[in-house]
Amino acid sequence: MNILITGGAGFIGSHVIEHHLNRGDEVVAVDDLSTGNRSNIRDFERNPRFRFVPSDITDYPELDHAVRAADRIYHLAAVVGMFRVLREPVRVTQVNVCATEHLLETIAAAGHHPQVVIASSSSVYSHCHSRDLREDDELVYLPRQGGLTGYALSKLTNEIQAMAYREEYGLQVTIPRLFNAVGPRQGGNYGFVLPRFIKQALAGETLTVFGDGTQTRSFCDVRDTVAALDLLAGNSEAAGQPVNVGNERETCILDLARLVIERSGSRSEVEFVPFDQAYGASFDQITQRRPVGERLRSLTGFRPRWTLEQTIDDLIDRARGATEQRAA
Ligand SMILES: NC(=O)c1ccc[n+]([C@@H]2O[C@H](COP(=O)([O-])OP(=O)(O)OC[C@H]3O[C@@H](n4cnc5c(N)ncnc54)[C@H](O)[C@@H]3O)[C@@H](O)[C@H]2O)c1
Repeated sequence: MNILITGGAGFIGSHVIEHHLNRGDEVVAVDDLSTGNRSNIRDFERNPRFRFVPSDITDYPELDHAVRAADRIYHLAAVVGMFRVLREPVRVTQVNVCATEHLLETIAAAGHHPQVVIASSSSVYSHCHSRDLREDDELVYLPRQGGLTGYALSKLTNEIQAMAYREEYGLQVTIPRLFNAVGPRQGGNYGFVLPRFIKQALAGETLTVFGDGTQTRSFCDVRDTVAALDLLAGNSEAAGQPVNVGNERETCILDLARLVIERSGSRSEVEFVPFDQAYGASFDQITQRRPVGERLRSLTGFRPRWTLEQTIDDLIDRARGATEQRAA
């Protein structure tokens, strides 16, 4: 299969590349390296079935050609991460909304119908009050509260764009709503909590918990996320509807910090930092995000294979291995 991945040098994208190269596919990844990193894909660049295109997708002259050559397209390029989203709200619109429209337009015009995966996000649930989040829940937005609403709405717009192109052009498009992927190659610079905690614990520094730490998230190992994306992409019944992709286990951020300290054997302490100090005064905290995975299960039979403890242990081993390599 010929695979095209936008945002391929990013965290999830690099695992999608690995997944498909391991399966013998040909992979092209496009990325402007704004939050992605060449080091994420360095190992793949030696593979003759892999090609990296360093380009901004809002200005990628070969897009039409790349789309025509693809049997499957993963559209993952987006402005992401709390810090970047709060700092660059206009770029959120330009990349997340306009570039997605242009990509879908190009696919529709190409006349052949590759499988298309448009990455949505659990952020679309925004201020939804349900304890457990289902795809058909009513969505509640409070636009005056916090810059993150722009990101959430950009992802909801992506869902609507994908459905529109399915309706009018019959595109084979799936719309995973991704919930907190974690795992190797996720950077801590843009507000992602687990890599930050691991770095702090291994350095013997204080783990900084934003707010009081009672806010919960459901963390899904990225290798499970990618397996689910693969199952969805190839499933015609899944097309045209949002599908939660995540792990149903819920963990509060304080417990996550304690788990990292325990699994790493660190002596670090925990310190609480008010949200407004971490993210600025306009920040609006989401207290809970747990997916109901029924739709994904019934469409694909998907079950996560990684526990949170296994992911944390793997990340700690890799971080220690890298430190030892540097010291040798
Ligand atoms: N990681 C998660 O838990 C999570 C949760 C919900 C949704 N998502 C979605 O999954 C996708 C991938 O996220 P990720 O966590 O891997 O983030 P990431 O930042 O690691 O990956 C995004 C990639 O897109 C690239 N990119 C950004 N703008 C670009 C542009 N104009 N042209 C080309 N490349 C561009 C970045 O350089 C980066 O490599 C995103 O669409 C994100 O919204 C991720």
